[in-house]
Order: sequence, then structure tokens, then C-alpha cells
Amino acid sequence: KEIIYFETIDSTNDYAKKIAKKSSEGTIVISEEQTKGKGRMGRFWHSSKKDGIYMSIILKPDILPNDAPIITQIAGLSVVKALNKLNVDAKIKWPNDILINNKKVCGILTEMSIEIDRIDYIVLGIGINVKTLDFSEDIKNIATSILKEGYNLNRLDIITLVLDEFENLYLDYINTKNKQIIANMCKEYSALIGKDIYVIQFNDRKRAKCIDINKEGNLIVQYEDGSIKELISGEVSIRG
Ligand code: BTN
Repeated sequence: KEIIYFETIDSTNDYAKKIAKKSSEGTIVISEEQTKGKGRMGRFWHSSKKDGIYMSIILKPDILPNDAPIITQIAGLSVVKALNKLNVDAKIKWPNDILINNKKVCGILTEMSIEIDRIDYIVLGIGINVKTLDFSEDIKNIATSILKEGYNLNRLDIITLVLDEFENLYLDYINTKNKQIIANMCKEYSALIGKDIYVIQFNDRKRAKCIDINKEGNLIVQYEDGSIKELISGEVSIRG
């Protein structure tokens, strides 16, 4: 498999998108730093030199575009399973943030190109804060790093384990198309199941209890009036 390494780049996702068409599945783009690291919803992803892991994987799965969110879930699971193997108590905040002590340590940005109802390619971007100690004012209450939480790990060990886990889970899913197995794992590693949270949609904020993650990867919550709802990722945001 091809690994493309940079000392510096604007964004590994942007670079991966440029080469995706001509690259084979499993090509990895990784950089020591990013000058324009991208987060979800147009946000900036702080990516300073040697502080973190910034990588993108090019994938060409033969699945329907509607099933693409499962790839993001598989990525989240790989990071959590890798960190747990290194004795780090990490959990998934649905749909795909990774938390340690309730603070975000890893984010995933999946970008996809579709051609007439089939997936042309997916660029799966994974950013992990490994050694960052100073976060900017706007995120310092919600962000953390592996080192800040007291674990002194080396980046290569994390990368190796994450990619191992990802390859196993991804190939299993592509071969079996079994979403239930993924959903069960998401539930097992979830930071939210059993917890009371706020569901935020448009200008509305409602208290709810998280009760399940279903086969489609949707979060099932129960509102205070007793009604049960299925939340679709991307349509709502969740606060503790
Ligand atoms: C998020 O907002 O939670 C997603 C953050 C994703 C960051 C990673 S770092 C590697 C890849 N390249 C980018 O520009 N972004 C992703």
C-alpha cells in the first residue's frame, strides 16, 4: 500500500482528494503538520508540527452513497479500539468524535465524490491530538490531547494500531455488509448511552436520555415527555 508523507501540507484531505482518482484504495496521505487543517462544518483543525496525527485514507468501497456514514463510524471505532489497546480510556461521542475524560481528542472528516449514484472515492481524514498542551481560548474547555490526559504515547504506535484496526473492521464490513456488528460496537464504546444530553437542532434545545444506537447508526433518544426519537447524524448536534 502506498503511504505519502509530508513534513508540511495545507490539508491531507485536500491533497488526497487531488490524487484520489488515480490512486488505489488504501493509499494514505500523512503529514507532520497542516497549514489549513479542516474540521467539520467549515471549521479549522489545529494541526501544529509533531503535536498530532494528521492523515487521510483514500477508499473506493463498493457500497451505496447512503451507507457512507458507516465508514466514518468504522474510523471512529478504529481510533477508540487502538487507544483502548494502549490503555487509554477513550470513548465515542456519537456520531464520530473521540473523547478522553469528556474532551475531544480526535475528529474525523469524511469527504466523498459520487458519480451517478455510486461512490467514486471517499477521503477519510483522521486528526488526533497527541501531544498538544496549549489549546486556543475558543476550544480549550472542550479539546484535549492524549498527553494532556496523562498518557505519554508515541505517534507511530498509535498510527500502526489505528490502521490495523481500520483495515480489519473495514474489510469485514465490505465483505459482510453487516451493519449490526458496527452498531453494536459503536454502542459498546459510546460515551453517551445511558446519559442525559441536550439535542440541539436549529434554535431548539431539548433534554433527552440516550438509549440506543440502531442498525443504521442512528442515535435513539427519549425526551422528557416520554417520546422516543431516532436522531440522524449531521442533522442534530449533541451537548452534555
Ligand atoms: C472534526 O471537525 O471533528 C474533524 C477534524 C478532522 C481533521 C483531520 S486532520 C487530517 C485530515 N485533513 C484535514 O484537513 N482534516 C482531517
